[in-house]
Parts: sequence; C-alpha cells; structure tokens
Amino acid sequence: MAKKAKRKEFKKLRVVVLVHADLVPPDSLEGYTDKQIQEWKTEYDVVATLREMGHDVRPLGVWDDLGKIRKEVEEWQPHVAFNLLEEFHGVAVYDQHVVSYLELLRQPYTGCNPRGLLLAHDKALSKQILAYHRIHTPKFNVYPMRRRVIPSKRLSYPLVVKSVSEEASYGISQASIVTSDEKLKDRVEFIHENVQSDALVEEYIEGRELYVGIIGNQRLQTFPIWELKFTKGGDVPLIATAKVKWDYEYQAKLGVMTQAAKDLPDGAENAILKQCLRTYKALFLTGYARIDLRLGADGRAYVLEANPNPNLSYGEDFAESAHAAGLEYDALLHRLITLGRNYKAAWRT
Ligand SMILES: Nc1ncnc2c1ncn2[C@@H]1O[C@H](COP(=O)(O)OP(=O)(O)O)[C@@H](O)[C@H]1O
Ligand SMILES: [Mg+2]
Repeated sequence: MAKKAKRKEFKKLRVVVLVHADLVPPDSLEGYTDKQIQEWKTEYDVVATLREMGHDVRPLGVWDDLGKIRKEVEEWQPHVAFNLLEEFHGVAVYDQHVVSYLELLRQPYTGCNPRGLLLAHDKALSKQILAYHRIHTPKFNVYPMRRRVIPSKRLSYPLVVKSVSEEASYGISQASIVTSDEKLKDRVEFIHENVQSDALVEEYIEGRELYVGIIGNQRLQTFPIWELKFTKGGDVPLIATAKVKWDYEYQAKLGVMTQAAKDLPDGAENAILKQCLRTYKALFLTGYARIDLRLGADGRAYVLEANPNPNLSYGEDFAESAHAAGLEYDALLHRLITLGRNYKAAWRT
C-alpha cells in the first residue's frame, strides 16, 4: 500500500508522543535489524509520520515518573498527547492510570478513556458485561492465583487457557488448547507461575479468526472485517499464538497472512459488524479499538476480546484494514488526533 497517495495539509500541532522509556524511536531506521526495529516500530511509524505531516513532535519516554509528563504538559502545552503507552512501571493494567492522570492535567490524548481501558483489560469482567448485553462470547471460568484448580462441569473440552489480563498472546501457544483435566491443571498453573496472573479458561471455538477495527467516540466507523489465515499450516490449529504474532521465521513457515475476510456466510458480515459496535459501546470504548472474534462452526461469531488502543504499526492489521476503508496512514493518525481532541472528558462538561 502507498503510504501517502497525495500530500494532504494538516494544521500544525504540538504533539507529545508518550512511549515506553525503552521504546523511544531513533530518527532513522538505518543500521537496525528487523528484530530491533520490531521492538519500537509502532513508535517509529507514528513519530515519523506525524513529523512528515508537519507537526511539531516530541517523543517522551515514560517509565515510573509522572513528573516528566506533568512538566512537558505544563511547559510545552501540547495540543494532544499521542498515547502509545501499554504499561506504567512495568504493570500493564496501570496504563489506564496514566490516562486518568492526563485527564486530571486536562490534557487531551488519543485513544481510549480510563474506564474503557479498565473494563477491556479485564477479560473476565468484559465477558460478564458482554453476557449482560447478550453478545456471544465463549463460555468461561476464571482460576485465580494461589487457588486449587477444579475443572468446571459447565465447560466442555477442548478448552483454551490464557491470562485474564495479558495482551499480545503473551502465554499463548499450541499447548494453551487443552483436552483433559490434567492438561487443564498444568496449563492453568503455567499461567499462574509464568504470566503471574489469574487464568481465564474458555471453550475453544473451532473456526475462522476475525478482527474488526473501529474508530470513534460517539459516531463510530468500522473497517472491513480482517482475517488471519495459515496458508501452509497443515493441521496446526489456527490460533494466534505469541509465535504467530511475533516470530517472523515461524510466520513464514506457517504462511501466516491477514487480509480482508472473503466469502463470509450470507448475512454474517452485517451481524459481525453490529456485534462489534455493540461490544465497543458496552465496554465504553473511545478513540480506536480492534475486536477479536471467532466465527464458529455453528455460524455464530463469538467475541474473544476488545483491544482498546490496538497495535498501530504501519502495515499491521489495524492500519491495513483502515487503508482498505480508504483511510491512509497519515489520515488515520489525523483522525485519532481529532477524536482525542474532541473527546468530552469530564473536566470539559
Ligand atoms: N476461546 C477461544 N477459542 C479459539 N481460539 C481462541 C480462544 N481464545 C483465544 N484464542 C486464540 O488465542 C488468541 C489470543 O487470544 P486473545 O483472547 O485474543 O488474547 P490476547 O489479548 O493475547 O490477544 C486469539 O487470537 C485466538 O487465536
Ligand atoms: Mg487478541
């Protein structure tokens, strides 16, 4: 895809880009390996593109110091904080507190509001809310840390074992699909010990893997339904393990590919998009998000999770599906900034 088909004019803004302290991107990609680039690719793509758009851009590395943010906000008065943080002081669920802090500072920011982040990052709580709205999601059970693992009679094998709060398929491999009480117990303990979080166990939905990008605060726009495929997978179960997401060699071996979903059953496309919009609203999301789903053999789409502030790398699923909807990368970033600046945080009312 062409990064910029034609030059658009954007009003020059002061943009502070909040990034993890280790992921402050260099000014150029020259001299770095693919593996090194992968670490901070999103940060690089966003900063470089915002600069090409003519904005005044300052990346700000954040680890455990809120004072740095406050200083930058007060002294430089950015029009918007472009939020690429996924954790604070190494704790993933603290990202929402940084966004709360931005609100307390009355600083407009891109992406999701604190309430949406809180709800969506707790997969079990999200599923309880979705169930209330009668949005299909796989049947599940939570196994808290330091408690005995007692198999649930309500759930039938195969089951998937994952972390209740981690993202990016952290802790997910083919061994996450379990078919016996013994394997279930082993894998739940694996999550407790290695991921250090409660375990979420769900019925495994055999079928197609779909992603839907959405942007907006009140008026929402969906991007075309995207699909993950293994073109050389053989009988490897089609799930997005950490290796499928992040290991280039493994991706080539399985022929991992994502593209607009084709040949969905009659009526499925509309039903799925509607279900994703309802999910976005039910979880109070704003800015942008990607909803992950499985299309089961029963013809039903099951929501796996909602990802507020999804991976925004150039060329990744979210940006690719935006492109398929006619939104170039720079125009996409522009939309996210406008949404951030227009978001009606409580202090504005
Ligand atoms: N209930 C399920 N049925 C089938 N596949 C699943 C299920 N839960 C997770 N997966 C697979 O694992 C991947 C990661 O799970 P997900 O809940 O999206 O967590 P993450 O936040 O790590 O992306 C999914 O994209 C899917 O391929
Ligand atoms: Mg996911």
